[in-house]
Amino acid sequence: MIQLLASTRSKEYPIYLSVDSIDRIGSLWASQGDTGKVAAITDTNVGGLYLPQIERSFEEAGFTFTATEVDAGEGTKTLAQAAKLYSRLFELKIRRGDAVCALGGGVIGDLAGFVASTYMRGVRLIQVPTTLLAQVDSSIGGKTGVNIPEAKNYVGSFYQPDMVLTDPVFLKTLPPEQMAEGLAEVIKYALLSGEDFFDALETSYQSLLDLDMAFLETVVRRCIEYKLAVVAEDERDYGRRAVLNLGHSVGHGIEAAGNYRLYSHGQAVALGLLAAVRLSEKIFSLPPEYGESLASLHKLLGLPTVLKGVEPRAVMESMAADKKADGISANMVLLRKIGDPVINCDVDAGLLASEVERLASGASAGSWTI
Ligand SMILES: NC(=O)c1ccc[n+]([C@@H]2O[C@H](COP(=O)([O-])OP(=O)(O)OC[C@H]3O[C@@H](n4cnc5c(N)ncnc54)[C@H](O)[C@@H]3O)[C@@H](O)[C@H]2O)c1
Ligand SMILES: [Zn+2]
Repeated sequence: MIQLLASTRSKEYPIYLSVDSIDRIGSLWASQGDTGKVAAITDTNVGGLYLPQIERSFEEAGFTFTATEVDAGEGTKTLAQAAKLYSRLFELKIRRGDAVCALGGGVIGDLAGFVASTYMRGVRLIQVPTTLLAQVDSSIGGKTGVNIPEAKNYVGSFYQPDMVLTDPVFLKTLPPEQMAEGLAEVIKYALLSGEDFFDALETSYQSLLDLDMAFLETVVRRCIEYKLAVVAEDERDYGRRAVLNLGHSVGHGIEAAGNYRLYSHGQAVALGLLAAVRLSEKIFSLPPEYGESLASLHKLLGLPTVLKGVEPRAVMESMAADKKADGISANMVLLRKIGDPVINCDVDAGLLASEVERLASGASAGSWTI
């Protein structure tokens, strides 16, 4: 069993990462010294697949276990849903020493994490991420929250869990398009953390597609370790945590320009990563081979390399409206080298616009245009 230690100013807690660790969740939680009740919150897809296994493990370890299922999907991440869950926890007589177990993807992690952080001013929290995105990103770092009608993730808290259990086996039932969502973030971590990780993805991409459990475990571990190191330095997102936005400024612009329907987050981030790498060639003389390799990796993993169906101008307008850009220049994360990100790069709007146009023309995708 791999045990990583998350160390932040507010809390230290273990992250257990292993194939088939799901069956040991009860004993691992007991080994934390916990004896209270466990109230799982999950969605209707994940609940049907994994609740019986989790329930058995907690009950065998002596816990009183209950489960609440909510609708799957982003639409469930609301204050109204949180309010229903508060009442449910009250009905279940959950108290401070008891735990909420968030079993699901990023939606459940954010929603149940937020509920755990606010119910009775905070109860114990176990994160069990079941999507690749949740395993490498949303379950790490303590950001929780819900959407408001006006904006995503605008109400929330920083609340570190007491334990995270990450089992690559969950990924076997994940729909391929959800896997691709997480792979875009994995590629982001590879670009941020170094050439050997990036090379490993290029060489072993087939192992990712084949869901090779040992390789996935290694990949997820590298991503978690990278995020943990960043969060340890900057828990509340005032500085270094901004590196995690690599590919996300253009990505958010594309998502918004497509009205959040045409491009998923991962697809938009994949294009944003390509734009960031191409801009890094111009600004930091990053060798163009990386852009070529990135485009080929995207294609092999089922991620887009060409901006289609959205006007480049609309992407620029969305970026200007976004809090991270001011219309004159964009504040972006770029790469001096693979593994050497630079935050707060002031990118001239003209240069950015020409890069977004290149994305739409397919020229950024090199010989791998699709
Ligand atoms: N807190 C953070 O730091 C952070 C970081 C990134 C993203 N997020 C948030 O994460 C959310 C997106 O997360 P997501 O992509 O995991 O989406 P999600 O939670 O909606 O899961 C995607 C779909 O996969 C299903 N699913 C989950 N696990 C499964 C499994 N093992 N087998 C079969 N189906 C499964 C879900 O039911 C859902 O239909 C967004 O709300 C985003 O804002 C938060
Ligand atoms: Zn992202």
